[in-house]
Amino acid sequence: MARLIISCSLDPHSRSRLMARSARMVLEDSGESVDWLDLQETALPMCDGNSVYDQVGVQQIGKRVRDADGIILAAPVYNFDVNAAAKNLVELTGKAWQDQVVGFLLAAGGQSSYMSVMSFANSLMLDFRCLILPKFVYATGQAFEGDQLADAMVSARITELAESLVRIADVVRRK
Ligand SMILES: Cc1cc2nc3c(=O)[nH]c(=O)nc-3n(C[C@H](O)[C@H](O)[C@H](O)COP(=O)(O)O)c2cc1C
Repeated sequence: MARLIISCSLDPHSRSRLMARSARMVLEDSGESVDWLDLQETALPMCDGNSVYDQVGVQQIGKRVRDADGIILAAPVYNFDVNAAAKNLVELTGKAWQDQVVGFLLAAGGQSSYMSVMSFANSLMLDFRCLILPKFVYATGQAFEGDQLADAMVSARITELAESLVRIADVVRRK
């Protein structure tokens, strides 16, 4: 059983990717197998709603989403939503998300965009019946020092999210 972690930020100094790395460490330290998908390393085409679905690379990403036993998606908050790369990924992979268990790690500039993941979460819930972990992790720049996550509370919440993902996905994704 592999847990898929998707890092959606395209910024080389991404903070949400640091959060994703932290979740990866938690999972691997507890013996979980992790499939790591970093959209900085894996460039995806823009979704045209048409011929893009025939591309082998797109189909392979869809398979990784479909086969995962729970997904942690780390993303930046852009314009009171997740970034376009995250949404593009879901547009490309669509039904592969059916009945997944999904947790979010979000990096934002300020506290007031706390609710900004909701339309993305709604789409996953209503279009693909995903089970969204309610205790998502939201961090601003204050939680970081340089290239390090430096907030014990945020780290603890990432641990809690990763552990919840395993616990819940093991029940929901039982085949
Ligand atoms: C185009 C753009 C739009 C942004 N919009 C918001 C926003 O609506 N709310 C917010 O709190 N921060 C916003 N930010 C700040 C980012 O969320 C913040 O820089 C975050 O660290 C980005 O995540 P990353 O470091 O993983 O790339 C925006 C940044 C950019 C570049």
